[in-house]
Amino acid sequence: MSLRAKQKEARTLTGLPGESTIQRATPFLKWAGGKSQLITTYDGFFPKRFNRYFEPFTGGGAIFFHLKNQRGEFKASLSDLNDELINCYRVIKNDVEELISHLKTHPNDEDYFYELRAVDAKTLSEIERAARLIYLNKTCFNGLYRVNSKGQFNVPFGFYKNPRTCNETNLRACSAALADVELNCRPFDHVLKFAKKGDLVYFDPPYHPLSSTANFTSYTRNCFSADDQEHLADVFAKLDKRGCHVMLSNSDCAFIRDLYKDFSIETVNAIRAINCKSEGRGKITEVLVLNR
Ligand SMILES: C[S@@+](CC[C@H](N)C(=O)[O-])C[C@H]1O[C@@H](n2cnc3c(N)ncnc32)[C@H](O)[C@@H]1O
Repeated sequence: MSLRAKQKEARTLTGLPGESTIQRATPFLKWAGGKSQLITTYDGFFPKRFNRYFEPFTGGGAIFFHLKNQRGEFKASLSDLNDELINCYRVIKNDVEELISHLKTHPNDEDYFYELRAVDAKTLSEIERAARLIYLNKTCFNGLYRVNSKGQFNVPFGFYKNPRTCNETNLRACSAALADVELNCRPFDHVLKFAKKGDLVYFDPPYHPLSSTANFTSYTRNCFSADDQEHLADVFAKLDKRGCHVMLSNSDCAFIRDLYKDFSIETVNAIRAINCKSEGRGKITEVLVLNR
């Protein structure tokens, strides 16, 4: 069956009845390093008041969606170096109904998955690219985004019985949460051009590896090096001097603790879910750095 014929067949199967009301928004993608499980731990550390919110390593945006559900109206700027991801946020913000219609055309089928995975995203429309990313994320093994050195998505099919490729209610809730949000594909240090006194900046960078084999840094073609971590610490210190509220998550290791020794460092318990080695999974401590 052709790609188009499979899409047509799937359109008739994926509609979920009774999904129309606006609800709390949660991340629409599973993202390596996602912060959903740490939200209750972090809750006590967010400032009571802030002006605008900046998240320069947005990923799945778990902290943004949580703050939006909790605090309601505030101006926000979300950015990330991954252009497929930022395109997806833009489409959810501006064209959520077209996206939903398009997502319903994708069947949960192994051959279809590999055909769509092989398509060059640059040949697709913005809506098709966003639908492709969400579909691949929901149906691939372990639900994550990983690319090879050529920038091609390279995770295999997940064989899930009933993956929720099109959660209409949540996509609409995310669209509403993103209504006034600025979305940009740019490197993290551009936040220095925009953040002002009283703004909250939350950094969730690719974590510094605990060992040479333990790193997961392939969200984009560019890896995040020790030099990048040092540059980030410098950006953190500049924002602190400016009077911003600054928060940063990272791995719990001597290198990171030393970079932020002039700030408050909280140790938090986390569960590491995505790691190529099984010993990398399970309970682990991370740090939350604050400038309060
Ligand atoms: C740990 S993930 C963020 C997880 C996210 N906060 C969540 O809750 O799901 C790190 C993100 O940083 C992005 N990234 C990597 N290098 C970057 C850079 N130099 N500037 C901006 N973003 C970058 C990656 O594309 C990835 O989405």
